[in-house]
Amino acid sequence: MTLAAPPPARKPSSPEPPEAARLTAALLGWYDRHRRVLPWRAPTGVTADPYAVWLSEIMLQQTTVKAVVPYFQAFTTAFPTVRDLAAADLDAVLRLWAGLGYYARARNLHACAKCVVDRHGGVFPTTVDALRALPGIGDYTANAIAAIAFDVPVVPIDGNVERVLTRLHALEEELPGAKPRLRALADTLEPADRAGDLAQALMDLGATICTPKSPACVLCPWAEPCAARRRGDAETFPRKASKKEGRLRRGAAFVAVRPDGAVLVRTRPEKGLLGGMTEVPTTEWTTTFAERSARDHAPALGVARKDWRRVPGVVTHVFTHFPLELLVFVAQLAAGVDAPAGSRWVARGDVAGEALPNVMRKVLEHAGIDTKPGAPSMKRAAPNQPRPSSRISKPKRSPR
Ligand code: ADE
Repeated sequence: MTLAAPPPARKPSSPEPPEAARLTAALLGWYDRHRRVLPWRAPTGVTADPYAVWLSEIMLQQTTVKAVVPYFQAFTTAFPTVRDLAAADLDAVLRLWAGLGYYARARNLHACAKCVVDRHGGVFPTTVDALRALPGIGDYTANAIAAIAFDVPVVPIDGNVERVLTRLHALEEELPGAKPRLRALADTLEPADRAGDLAQALMDLGATICTPKSPACVLCPWAEPCAARRRGDAETFPRKASKKEGRLRRGAAFVAVRPDGAVLVRTRPEKGLLGGMTEVPTTEWTTTFAERSARDHAPALGVARKDWRRVPGVVTHVFTHFPLELLVFVAQLAAGVDAPAGSRWVARGDVAGEALPNVMRKVLEHAGIDTKPGAPSMKRAAPNQPRPSSRISKPKRSPR
């Protein structure tokens, strides 16, 4: 009897790495080749500077990388260390922050720098919990700083990372309800000893490849395992519960100009929207604003109602919770008019140095007043024509 030949011996092979390890390795390999060069990011092999990481993460909350870069550079030039920032005047910090939006961040930034100096001897704590206990640092930011600055093995989940992971898994559950599930999925990634790189790789993937519209799936290191790409509907993720947009608020802003070019301004209350920032006097911003009686709310400067000239067009701005439309009125005053209680004259050459939120920059520009640093002390044109940037247009959503 002949025996059947034994099956050929299997070539010994290394076992397949588990799915999570393969995902991580593919992503980190891609990151090593394509990482973005950013001013707060340590070059490969260099230890991250926790001050730069913290400062950038606070600035990047609700704000794009492109908008943050010049602010980051200005801050690190003015305040090279957390001690310099802690020792600065809050006003100086707010002035440097002007235009970046969400001004509570600037106050918290300053408070946090003081805490790091007073409570931690000027050295950032290294755990998620200790970071979370500092002013202005929430769950996401604590995870991001811990991972990027200290390689703590946590995955920070921001909007970019949500998009990447919901597509990877074709997650049908709607946000924000899906957050716990996303956390569980993120926790399955294995950052091993490269937690900072993994976090930044996910951010870069979301920002450059796995974009909200027209994702570049052919270039994606996760193209093969991506469930949404296989289905051909990556762009439809993440699923989101419909949210109610805030209703349009309207109001009027009053730009009073002295013959020497000085402009009347006031400081907003410390608490609340644009707290502590500079503004020109305005009406309340309401959904029931009545244009006909707008001039009744002009500051008391001894000018006739008709002398408040309406600048054609309208200034639009979108805050997180509501869009805003402001009419702009301008009055040319006589010399020597006193500023009403609670307001002050600011010389034309000092306007750019005020802590002006973007909406107020738009109002002043609409009135013909240059708000850019280095602006001439007075413009030649009378401020009664709409500026080219001021059009009646659909407001664009902006974080500032
Ligand atoms: N968005 C939030 N944090 C970021 C970072 N550290 N790099 C790039 N984009 C980011």
